[in-house]
Amino acid sequence: MSDAEDLARDRDRAQALLEEWVASDALRRHCRSVEIALRAYAAELGEDADAWGCVGLLHDFDWERHPSLERHPQDGEPVLAALGYPEWFRRAILSHAEHVHLPRETALERHLFACDELAGFIHACALMRPDRLEGMEPRSVRKKLKDKRFAANVSREDITAGAEGIGRDLDDHIAFVIAALAPHAAELGLTA
Ligand SMILES: [Fe+2]
Ligand SMILES: [Fe+2]
Repeated sequence: MSDAEDLARDRDRAQALLEEWVASDALRRHCRSVEIALRAYAAELGEDADAWGCVGLLHDFDWERHPSLERHPQDGEPVLAALGYPEWFRRAILSHAEHVHLPRETALERHLFACDELAGFIHACALMRPDRLEGMEPRSVRKKLKDKRFAANVSREDITAGAEGIGRDLDDHIAFVIAALAPHAAELGLTA
């Protein structure tokens, strides 16, 4: 495998880059959540879990330095290019942002988009429950989705479109992501 392809699967390097660029625990946990969800989907689909995981871990790596739609993730892309990340990796990261208007063509791109907002939303839902992720049902997550005041910054349209993009029923997708995150609850700050 080429150096670029190795780098795309090197979790230690991805983690180091994330820690260099992201100070906030909340954002690090978000990136980790998306990594976990993507690894789970890759495993289920027989895809490359290390590659999908690194894309998830780094999809928002530049947000603290480029916290606007004008700059994130567009200005992070050349940074990844200079480090040697391959084109498909950078394209997947670019494509998670609706405002970039890049059609999502690969399974990786579609799953990244599907997991990004939903992972954040499930985290917000878990924080409202004494048992956190334990026993969380898709039904209760959907109820929260209808409450426009709850986690108002999370785009409901992106969540619905994300599930459609991966050809999954929304409940099924929600249940899958909850199940993926649950074993990592402590690390994600979601212990009951
Ligand atoms: Fe983002
Ligand atoms: Fe994100």
